[in-house]
Amino acid sequence: MVEPIYRSTRSEREQWIREAGYNLFNLRSEQVYIDLLTDSGTGAMSDNQWAAIMTGDESYAGSSSFFRLKETVKKLFGFDYFLPTHQGRAAENVLFSVLVKEGDLVPGNSHFDTTKGHIEFRRATAIDCTISESFEPGILHPFKGNIDLVQLKKVLDTHPKDRIPFIILTLTCNSSGGQPVSMQNIREVKALAEQYGIPLLFDSARFAENAWFISRREAGYEAKTIKEIVFEMYSYADGMTMSSKKDGIVNIGGFIATKHKDWYDQACTYNIMFEGFVTYGGMAGRDMNALAVGLEEASETAYLESRIGQVQYLGAQLSGYGIEVQQPFGGHAIFVNARHFLPHVPKEEFIAQTLCIELYLEAGIRGVEVGTLMADRDPESRENRYPKLEFMRLALPRRVYTNLHLDVVAAALKNVFDRRNTITSGYRILEEAPILRHFTVKLEPIGERPV
Ligand code: F0G
Repeated sequence: MVEPIYRSTRSEREQWIREAGYNLFNLRSEQVYIDLLTDSGTGAMSDNQWAAIMTGDESYAGSSSFFRLKETVKKLFGFDYFLPTHQGRAAENVLFSVLVKEGDLVPGNSHFDTTKGHIEFRRATAIDCTISESFEPGILHPFKGNIDLVQLKKVLDTHPKDRIPFIILTLTCNSSGGQPVSMQNIREVKALAEQYGIPLLFDSARFAENAWFISRREAGYEAKTIKEIVFEMYSYADGMTMSSKKDGIVNIGGFIATKHKDWYDQACTYNIMFEGFVTYGGMAGRDMNALAVGLEEASETAYLESRIGQVQYLGAQLSGYGIEVQQPFGGHAIFVNARHFLPHVPKEEFIAQTLCIELYLEAGIRGVEVGTLMADRDPESRENRYPKLEFMRLALPRRVYTNLHLDVVAAALKNVFDRRNTITSGYRILEEAPILRHFTVKLEPIGERPV
C-alpha cells in the first residue's frame, strides 16, 4: 500500500503548529510531510498479513484466530497463558491491576512512560536502575539498555520483598534510545530476582530488535537464529506485556503472556472488565490473525537487517554532520541529544520540544520529545522532573519510508543545526494534564522565533 504525502510551505506550518498549541500530537497527519512521531502501529503490513486478515474468525468466544495467535505466542515465547488486549498499555493496566499495590516499588531499566504511568497511577514507584553509560550519548556500549546489578541489588536489599511485585526489563529500552539488553544481563537479573523470590517481567514491544542486537553483539549468539534467541530470552521471564504495534507489525493490538496460572486467572477478570472477553480482549479476529503472521515476520533476520539498517543509515548521516545522537544507534529510532543541539535554550523552556518544533517548521518532519515534558512532574512536589537527557526521537515506521525520505530528514535537521545559535528561547506551558502531560499539553513560545 502506498499513500501520497503533501509538501507544505513554511507559512502553512507556522499556522498549523500555532493552532496545535505547539504540541506535535495535535497536528493532523496531512500537515506532516515525513512522520517519525512513532514506530507504533505505523508499520506497513505484508501480503501474508493481509491474506490472514481475510480468514479472521470474528466469533465472540473461542475464535480460531485467538488460538492461532495463542499458539504462535507459545511457540515464540514459551508461555502457556495468554490474554489479548487492545494495545500495550492495556496489557499493563490489566496485569498491573493484579500485581501492583499502593506503596510498591518496581525496579527496571528506564520504564516507558505508560508503564511508569500505570505504576504511579497506583501510587507505587518506578525505580530506574539502568547502567550509567546509558546516560552518556557519546559512550559506545553495546548494551545500553542493561540494568546496573549493583543498583538493583541495593533496591532489593533495602526494601521488603512483598513491596516489590516484580522487576521489569524493557526490551529494547525505548526511553534510553532503543538500546538493547544483553542475554548475559537478562540472565544475571533473573538470577538476582530468583535469589530474592521476585518475578521478572519483560516489556516486550521491541523483543525482536533486542534479539537482533544480541545476535550481532554478544559472543556465542552469532550462529543462532533470532527465534532461538527470543526463545532463550523469554525462558528467563515470568511473564510479558506486549505492544503488538511495534514488533508485531500490526496497526493495533497487545497482549499479556505468562507461565503463572494464578496471574492469568486474576487478570482474566480485569481483561473482561477493561478489554473484552478473554479470547479477543479488544482485538478483532482478523487483527489477531495478522498479528500471528507479523510476530513471525518480525523475528526473521533479513527483515531485521533491513529495518535496523535503515535506522543506522539515518544515524550515520546525522552524526556525520556533527549532530550528537545516542550511540550506538538504537533499534527503532535515532535519539538526538537536544541539550547538545540547542545549548542556549534554558531547561525550563523544554529544550527537546523546542527542537521538535524547529524541525517541523523547517520541513514538516514530525519527531517526538523524550525529555522534560514526557518526564511529567514529581508526583509529590509537583515540580518539573528534569531527566538526565533531553532527546528528540526520530522513530522509523516499519517497512514504510525509503532511504530517500531519510535523506530529506537528515538535510532538514542539518539546516536547523546550522542555525542553532539563533535559537535561544523555548516554550512555556499554557495547559497540562496531571499525568502523561506531553500528549495533550498546550504551549506558547517565549520570545521571538527566528526563521
Ligand atoms: N512499552 C514500550 C517500551 C513502548 O514503547 C510502548 C509504546 C508501550 C509499552 C505502550 O504500548 O502504545 O501499545 O499502548 N510506545 C509508543 C512509542 C507509544 O511511540 O514509543 P501501546
